[in-house]
Amino acid sequence: MMDVQVEVSTRCNFDCFYCAGRDMVQGDMPLERFRAIVDSHVARYGVPRRLSLQGEGEPTLNRDFFAMAAYARTIGAEPFTITNGTYKYPEHFLADFRQVGVSIDTLDAGEAASIGRHNLERVIEFVENLRGKLDITIFSVAVSASVQPVREWCRKRGLRHMIQPLQGKDDYSRRYPQRIQLHRQPTEYRCHLLENDGMRYYDLSGGEMPCCFIKDASRFESIAALRSILEERKVPLPCAGCAHLR
Ligand SMILES: C[S@@+](CC[C@H](N)C(=O)[O-])C[C@H]1O[C@@H](n2cnc3c(N)ncnc32)[C@H](O)[C@@H]1O
Ligand code: SF4
Ligand code: SF4
Repeated sequence: MMDVQVEVSTRCNFDCFYCAGRDMVQGDMPLERFRAIVDSHVARYGVPRRLSLQGEGEPTLNRDFFAMAAYARTIGAEPFTITNGTYKYPEHFLADFRQVGVSIDTLDAGEAASIGRHNLERVIEFVENLRGKLDITIFSVAVSASVQPVREWCRKRGLRHMIQPLQGKDDYSRRYPQRIQLHRQPTEYRCHLLENDGMRYYDLSGGEMPCCFIKDASRFESIAALRSILEERKVPLPCAGCAHLR
């Protein structure tokens, strides 16, 4: 069954140096567009197992964020999100969410601020408020050795911890070119997400994508076009540098 992710906002109160969203058109998805996207997805592909409310922005900044989560539950999908943990009323998550992701790259407040993740104290408080009430996963981008103390902190609290490497795709790495090595060439020209229809991503304007990694929509034509370029054993421009391309 497909997982679905909807970019409900591209706005953010943080400015992480690695975030592609900071260069994108800034805005929130209206509730009506969200419902129309979800309804159309369900009509074409069926009810998704999980419906993630997140893109390259802070989802909780959308004033209809919790109405969207409630709608996901209404259609029979499990709502999910990854948040930067600055939302003031963590208890609001308890109504419709069972699982939530929170991003913490480091426990050093100075380093967090230099990454662009400000107000670490509030983020930690957000997690502590929901711990034991929700299934929480902490997401860390591997920016430095500081992810190890985060791992230990999670272990002590019984929280799942996911470490994500810095994205190597051009869409993201143009913000930190000095940190990324040259792309490796694929050998098989295959992507499991494309082959298995593993997910759908709907961007702020409702554009349908095969994954959440294509941030430069101007280079994206269609899912069918990506498939046919790969069949010619070429790398489609929107997929350049993608770790999923084998
Ligand atoms: C795009 S954010 C959106 C949700 C929310 N604003 C947040 O930061 O948690 C979703 C996840 O992607 C991660 N992320 C963003 N840019 C990344 C990059 N260039 N490389 C790896 N992970 C990245 C974030 O750290 C976060 O855990
Ligand atoms: S908190 Fe999330 S959306 Fe905001 S700048 Fe950081 S990665 Fe981007
Ligand atoms: S960007 Fe990556 S995950 Fe998305 S379709 Fe291309 S190869 Fe697959």
